[in-house]
Amino acid sequence: MRRYMVLNAKGGVGKSTIATSIAAYFASQWENVNVTLADFDPQQSSMDWLSLRPPERPAITGINAYRDGLKGLSPATDFLVMDARASTHGPDLTALIRHAETILIPVLPSTVDMKACTRFIEELQKVGRVERKEVKIAVIANRVRETYSVFGELQEYLDTLKIPCLGHLRDAQNYVRAYTRGLGIHELPPYLAWPDWEQWEPIVKWLESKRSQP
Ligand SMILES: Nc1ncnc2c1ncn2[C@@H]1O[C@H](COP(=O)(O)OP(=O)(O)O)[C@@H](O)[C@H]1O
Ligand SMILES: [Mg+2]
Repeated sequence: MRRYMVLNAKGGVGKSTIATSIAAYFASQWENVNVTLADFDPQQSSMDWLSLRPPERPAITGINAYRDGLKGLSPATDFLVMDARASTHGPDLTALIRHAETILIPVLPSTVDMKACTRFIEELQKVGRVERKEVKIAVIANRVRETYSVFGELQEYLDTLKIPCLGHLRDAQNYVRAYTRGLGIHELPPYLAWPDWEQWEPIVKWLESKRSQP
């Protein structure tokens, strides 16, 4: 079982958007693949998304992990995608990270968000499992409007920690469209979403590769 967690101490950075798209990507990529989406956020955005998912689309199992933890997780799961809640720190963060093997951190391209992200990564580095390199961490820049990079300083910091920035996702109505239909970005029609698919390519490549494993 591969275990991915989308995590950031900040809310509204795209955790649920990215978690649902990754779950849908895995589910639609192969036949008979077992995908579970576990929602650790009391707001349950990922579970709301799942309730909107059309029955003819490849099935994804949902777990209200905020209420039940991962008790209901089937051992037959091939891909576990976890949507974390914001404001997780200290012992809660340590406990949450126990479940993860790969951590994806979405970050918005504002100075405030990048500073907060840097601090969050500093905090993550102190968690035992991260220190011992038992989890792989990567960053995804989300809702990027500018073609120039405002991520310079964050990138420098990530480089010193050897944390990759997997790619930039544009700010696009497609993400809202996909969410409200219970679809992943890869399940929108190509004429709409091809620019997004292009941006996702390095991300899914990394997720599927050994590089995302500790
Ligand atoms: N790349 C994007 N382009 C446009 N809107 C986005 C994008 N990513 C996220 N959003 C929107 O931003 C809001 C917050 O995203 P969400 O995934 O719920 O964040 P989080 O789970 O971190 O709180 C949602 O309304 C979502 O539709
Ligand atoms: Mg969310």
